[in-house]
Amino acid sequence: MLVSATEMLKKAKEGHYAVGQFNINNLEWTKAILLTAEELKSPVILGVSAGAGKYMTGFSTVAAMVKAMDESLGITVPVALHLDHGTYDNCYDCVKAGFTSIMFDGSHYDIEENVEKTTELVHVAHKLGLSIEAEVGGIGGEEDGVVSAGECADPEECKRVADLGVDMLAAGIGNIHGKYPADWAGLRFDVLDNIQAKTGMMPLVLHGGTGIPDDQIKKAISLGVSKINVNTECQLVFAEATRKYVEAGKDLEGKGFDPRKLLAPGTEAIKATVKEKMELFGSVGKAN
Ligand code: 13P
Repeated sequence: MLVSATEMLKKAKEGHYAVGQFNINNLEWTKAILLTAEELKSPVILGVSAGAGKYMTGFSTVAAMVKAMDESLGITVPVALHLDHGTYDNCYDCVKAGFTSIMFDGSHYDIEENVEKTTELVHVAHKLGLSIEAEVGGIGGEEDGVVSAGECADPEECKRVADLGVDMLAAGIGNIHGKYPADWAGLRFDVLDNIQAKTGMMPLVLHGGTGIPDDQIKKAISLGVSKINVNTECQLVFAEATRKYVEAGKDLEGKGFDPRKLLAPGTEAIKATVKEKMELFGSVGKAN
């Protein structure tokens, strides 16, 4: 059931758990995530970066595929189709394409411009029943060409942006996209605590979910994080399972080269990772 993320995140915040955003890259990714969410009766958010949207030939292709697959698989749990780290133009493109949720990442603008553009996009999204995520501070690292040094968010600026009526707020708290370096200092819970004190019941978003230790994930949820984004980890387990299949020579046995066989171990690995994350985030059984 395709819906905006508003209701599922409100419930997550009240219930002290988090909904996972899993980024999609193709049909296998989408199918694996939808089937796992349905099996575990968990709400889920499918994230689409501009780069992944382009790879899949455009946001309208993605929206058409997700809508059709949601119906043909008989998915009953709430699913939000969400733009990840969108530019101003990406947001309008996704609204037109039929996404149910958008993220405007105005974190690289100065706060005045971020507020101005976010305000406009909140009106557009809400008029059409979509949810919207905004960002303050920077998430470090690189994701699909979007690079940031990473910078902790200012709690006062978080409050300003939260007060614009966004449905979820991403705030930099020392998190980064991709693998964490060995000398990473961990999440800045002091900053998160201050942000939550200023923003109250606003669902907070933790980007860079790959590689954050379980105890830090749990602590972040206890301090108001209601949405956690995972992308790289699904890519890593997919690649590892596919490599094992090929290295074992399975693609050379019988019709092992058939893409339905070749991509199956990777797809199963994504399912296992999504299941593990949903259990950790506490969203299992929270579909209603
Ligand atoms: P990872 O790739 O580090 O899991 O981050 C995902 C993310 O934050 C998507 O916006």
